[in-house]
Amino acid sequence: MSEIILEAVDLEYSYPDGTKALSNVNLKVQKGEKLAILGSNGAGKSTLFMQFNGIYRPNSGSIKYQGQDISYKNRALIELRKQVGVVFQDPDSQLFSSSVYQDISFGPLNLGLSEEEVRERVKQALIDTETTDLEDKPTHLLSYGQKKRVSIAGVLAMEPEVIIFDEPTAGLDPRHAQEFMQLLEDFSLEGKTIILSTHDVDLAYSWSDRLAIMSSGEIIAHGEPRELFLRPELIERADLALPWLLEMYCGLVEKGWLPPSTPLPKTRDDLLRSIPTKTDTTG
Ligand SMILES: Nc1ncnc2c1ncn2[C@@H]1O[C@H](COP(=O)(O)OP(=O)(O)OP(=O)(O)O)[C@@H](O)[C@H]1O
Ligand SMILES: [Mg+2]
Repeated sequence: MSEIILEAVDLEYSYPDGTKALSNVNLKVQKGEKLAILGSNGAGKSTLFMQFNGIYRPNSGSIKYQGQDISYKNRALIELRKQVGVVFQDPDSQLFSSSVYQDISFGPLNLGLSEEEVRERVKQALIDTETTDLEDKPTHLLSYGQKKRVSIAGVLAMEPEVIIFDEPTAGLDPRHAQEFMQLLEDFSLEGKTIILSTHDVDLAYSWSDRLAIMSSGEIIAHGEPRELFLRPELIERADLALPWLLEMYCGLVEKGWLPPSTPLPKTRDDLLRSIPTKTDTTG
């Protein structure tokens, strides 16, 4: 049976101003899975992520890490954050040191690692996020996408077991977004558990093993991406759109280019493979 590494149980959360942000949220995250969270603006994705590493505490319900309710005592939270790293949506709320290098090394230094180990981890995180050239630069002078990559590097350098990314590709140019997704693939192969939120339905559809859809503070559905995207009422309720691959697939079936029995493609290559090769009729 698969191991549950992180779990939200009956979560309820309202902000101090009375805004109800999470309602009856139940979610089990399996060790090693790739989970995407989709949902419109204000659906509660970022709020949920901040519950996962104890930044916010639920009004009722609980977060469990490896089967145990998390504790909100300082020392326990420090331990939890070694295991569960969250890259915030807004990089400005994550970066605070004067230089990129200092910022990325802050977390590992607080883990009590040797200076050499810290240097190694920072170097690797700089390479992974292609920020090596920026290491001496003051963080406040970086472009938005560069800040985003440095904030990702800061969490990677902690080497957490579960890595949570809140809209990681928003603001990244296409090449860096693609390379970031490749990096996630590498982490996944190492057995890390990855959760991300995104508004990019194409990315969520092709990348994730499992999808959770949020609307107005609730998880309204979760499951295999191909099953969820075939439910139009769900897509409409959560302000989503069909992934490009499914649009194409449905169009090709409708026009008779593909038999309706063709399996739903998960990737562009799946779709291309299912289209018959054109036979040469000129000879
Ligand atoms: N600090 C806060 N104080 C009061 N209300 C807040 C605060 N932060 C968020 N909210 C409210 O909580 C709800 C959930 O917000 P949240 O940021 O979790 O949504 P989201 O799904 O991450 O949205 P987005 O896609 O825009 O990032 C919204 O109604 C928002 O207005
Ligand atoms: Mg958000």
